[in-house]
Amino acid sequence: MCGIVGALTDRPVAPLMLDALRRLEYRGYDSAGLATLADGVLHRRRAAGKLAGLEAVLAAEPLPGTSGIGHTRWATHGPPTVANAHPHVAGRVAVVHNGIIENHAALKAELKAEGVVFTSDTDTEVVAHLLDRAIRHGQTPQEAMAALMPRLAGAFAFVVLVAGEDDLLLAARRASPLAIGLGDGEAFVGSDAVALAPLTRRIVYLEDGDWAVLRRGGVRVFRDAGVPVERPEQISTVTSAMVGKGNYRHFMEKEIHEQPEAIAHTLHAVLDPGTGRATIPPPLDAPGIPKITIVAAGTSYYAGLTARYWLESLAGIATEVELASEFRDRDAVLPPGGVAIAISQSGESLDTLMALRRAKELGQKVLALVNVPESTIARESDGVLLTRAGPEFGVASTKATTAQLTALCALAIALGRAHGRLSEERATALREALVGLPGRVGEVLQHEAHFMRIAHDLARARDVLYLGRGLSYPIALEGALKLKEITYIHAEGYAAGEMKHGPIALIDETMPVVILAPTDGWFEKTASNVSEVRARGGKVILLTDAAGAARLGEPGDHVIVLPTVDPMVAPILYAVPVQLLAYYAAVEKGTDADQPRNLAKSVTVE
Ligand code: AGP
Repeated sequence: MCGIVGALTDRPVAPLMLDALRRLEYRGYDSAGLATLADGVLHRRRAAGKLAGLEAVLAAEPLPGTSGIGHTRWATHGPPTVANAHPHVAGRVAVVHNGIIENHAALKAELKAEGVVFTSDTDTEVVAHLLDRAIRHGQTPQEAMAALMPRLAGAFAFVVLVAGEDDLLLAARRASPLAIGLGDGEAFVGSDAVALAPLTRRIVYLEDGDWAVLRRGGVRVFRDAGVPVERPEQISTVTSAMVGKGNYRHFMEKEIHEQPEAIAHTLHAVLDPGTGRATIPPPLDAPGIPKITIVAAGTSYYAGLTARYWLESLAGIATEVELASEFRDRDAVLPPGGVAIAISQSGESLDTLMALRRAKELGQKVLALVNVPESTIARESDGVLLTRAGPEFGVASTKATTAQLTALCALAIALGRAHGRLSEERATALREALVGLPGRVGEVLQHEAHFMRIAHDLARARDVLYLGRGLSYPIALEGALKLKEITYIHAEGYAAGEMKHGPIALIDETMPVVILAPTDGWFEKTASNVSEVRARGGKVILLTDAAGAARLGEPGDHVIVLPTVDPMVAPILYAVPVQLLAYYAAVEKGTDADQPRNLAKSVTVE
């Protein structure tokens, strides 16, 4: 949700920041801007729309200077215009900001009463004005920052550049992520370590509530009104080689194809190489856990819904799955000794972070399942289970999802053994099914031409229904989300058994119905739903295995035959074809699969 970057260098800073913003564009692309200092004077360029707009502006009017700040925006306050594009400038101060200053209206009223004129609709501009006012009244920039921090409410990160201060950046974070990079006589700051990867791997992560003073010689970190604190320097595991598209058209296409490795690497990390068994991470290793509460958003929530089936049937543990944005404001009744699992690719989704904090308030210990080890959600949890999908840039989550599902399934198997619910024989068979998945996913990826042909029809639909039962139900929800977020086609995921309670009214000859039907315990019932769709003229797109195709496929249908796998691990495999259908439908429609309208990869606003 907005990408921010800052740099103090000994080389032209604008091209370097533009490059860093390219790696942050996944966070938002409504507008972009840069501000630099040359001979102590602030210069600024901004453009509405994607980064390409700013590149064009910079080509016409290059920015001088060796220190600067940059921004790529996901609009919250005010439409995506040039006037609302960051950096926002007031007097000597320029600010780039991610998140929301919740008390901006009160602060704005205070400033307006003093005659300040605002030039944007943003909440950000109050930060620039408050700092500028303090500096005009004689405070140093650092003193102004110390005085400002206790006055701000909300979840945010921002970086400040001050005219006349060529060797200074001020940075702050509260709930939103921010990483500081240390170079050789250079200093950097960015929304994540990925943005800084080609510049430095020496990273200092700010803790929630920290603010920092950056100079070329190093960084000093403070809390509240100026209490100094120490934060360790770490070496980031992200390399610049991880952040390109390679020979693929889109990050999404590349990431779909990286799934065999993402699953294999995750399994490698989760399963003990000696025993082949998963180790149960704390706090799930405690005996007698009365209940697991999973909190997550979007696709991660659907991974949680899938995990509920595994945790209940393999491990016999009562499990609830909650939308993070709802859970955080509910008076949920949770048992003492319960465990919450916060699932998040980015580890930064604000709703999920707030749900995690709420779960702690309600007496739960928390396990984080994240793809980013240094993320806030990982750092605030009692235990961490990592997916090893590598950086994911496509807004539509793909490889992180199958890696999450893999880790959750391995965890449920291990809990099943630990709780005496699962025989060693069955556990071994399930682990082998997991270990075989990278190969099976690879087989699915070889049939892309088939997916392209079906997507050709799908792209012309106005509405699409996705149906699945049992373990396939969350993947039906996921398929519908994938399609709507990158093609803008209206799609709904439904439990197949619910179709007759309402959605069946929608079905006619114009309505494709994607039905997920591996031959599992729910197959016969799903088969009846296929007949009901056909009877109403619906266009069936059937995802099944060889036995299912022989039993159910009819001429007139689109049948996608997937490898036969143990039904328990089928959702992991079936997540892949729904991604491919959505991706090729987006290519067919010409929508931007990596940067769909109105969305951003990491949602750090409430
Ligand atoms: C997935 O395709 C989405 N773009 C979105 O629903 C995402 O899964 C959600 O915002 C949660 O993100 P997280 O996993 O990083 O917390």
